[in-house]
Amino acid sequence: MTAKKNVDLLVGAQWGDEGKGKVVDMLGSDVDVFVRFQGGANAGHTVIADGQKVVFHLLPSGMLYTGKLCILGNGLVLDPEQFLNETNELFSRGQDRARLAVSPHAHVVMPYHKMLDKLQEEARGKGRKIGTTGRGIGPCYVDKYSRSGLRVEDLINPDVLRERLTYILEEKNQIFTRLYNHNPLAFDEIYEPAKKWGEALAPYVDDTRALLRKAADEGKHILLEGAQAALLDIDHGTYPYVTSSSTSAAGAFTGTGLAPHDLTRVIAVVKAYTTRVGEGPFPTEDFGADGEKLRANGGEFGATTGRPRRCGWLDVPALKYSMELNGADVIALTKLDVLTGMGDIKVCTAYELDGKRITAWPTDTRTLSEIKPVYEMLPGWNDDITNCKTFEELPANAQSYVKYIEQTLNVPVALIGVGADRNQTINRGM
Ligand code: IMP
Repeated sequence: MTAKKNVDLLVGAQWGDEGKGKVVDMLGSDVDVFVRFQGGANAGHTVIADGQKVVFHLLPSGMLYTGKLCILGNGLVLDPEQFLNETNELFSRGQDRARLAVSPHAHVVMPYHKMLDKLQEEARGKGRKIGTTGRGIGPCYVDKYSRSGLRVEDLINPDVLRERLTYILEEKNQIFTRLYNHNPLAFDEIYEPAKKWGEALAPYVDDTRALLRKAADEGKHILLEGAQAALLDIDHGTYPYVTSSSTSAAGAFTGTGLAPHDLTRVIAVVKAYTTRVGEGPFPTEDFGADGEKLRANGGEFGATTGRPRRCGWLDVPALKYSMELNGADVIALTKLDVLTGMGDIKVCTAYELDGKRITAWPTDTRTLSEIKPVYEMLPGWNDDITNCKTFEELPANAQSYVKYIEQTLNVPVALIGVGADRNQTINRGM
């Protein structure tokens, strides 16, 4: 007989940067195991605890808690340099290293992946760029699926590393020299640092699937931390303007080895307005003063690249699509305070295309770039909400905005963020 399962999955519902790090951190005191299962160091999860800002790119946001198990699952693409930078920084602050486990099956982001990411973006040219983070994510996933990748288990075994890297570099050097007119990479310049990364990583490598299986069966509270978000999903997002992993709920199973029936709850993180970094369609983008104001008030600059984020209004059809895709049970609504003082708040309820009204999210990217949003205006509020501790303390119009979201999406809003700090959160039954 196994214990009752207690596995939460947290996913971004828009184009990322919804404030997932803060929600994870906020739920964290009750969690036993934190897990990252897809993506890599393209993520930027900002956590502000006790006034101190910490940004995680690769490690689970739960690393700030002591005594909890943190797992980097097999679905991740792991940049060893970033991993060592982040762990060294945390350990220098006195965090315990014994509680971090890395899957041997996670793929390794190598220097040539980062180089290729940049070269490919340059080659795409204006109008075709994806606007990637330059962290080598796409090229690393390409190698995974073409079965030319290096996994963590290869990196920690110098002989296997030598043998596989010899073959891989031969192929990569053909690409660098013939396609990009770039100098070939010297074997030792890649192999020697990679061997050292392997040595440093080896103590963390463990059978993360088995660890998770045991934890799930024992009824431990597991929090699967999605990175990026549904509209950046490789299959279901705004392709080709997406990242290269399965960012919606389904990715949690391939990326960990847990089974669908293990899951008890899906928490969709929704920002009270919408942002996007990089290229691609964004129907509710505001190019005027309101967009500027959202960017300034919300501090909307990329945590990984520092790029200014594109800002706009809540998009209901996009969110309905995202709720369906993720099977969202509850919503964590973030950054509600950023809407304070914005005047009336626009919410997109449908789109227009060639004089016709569309109410469903168009999944065809070309249509998406042509539609015009149809807005409903909701009354705003001016009172500072950053110290509100309960839903009832919020101004009536802020309460109505939250109720509007849950009624339109038919998913309860269980958590409301009213400021950047861990404590600036209203819990409505999370
Ligand atoms: P990549 O993941 O670096 O390949 O970038 C692909 C697209 O996903 C680009 O538009 C990036 O801006 C976007 N992206 C990747 N990671 C994040 C993230 O953590 N937040 C928001 N956008 C992201």
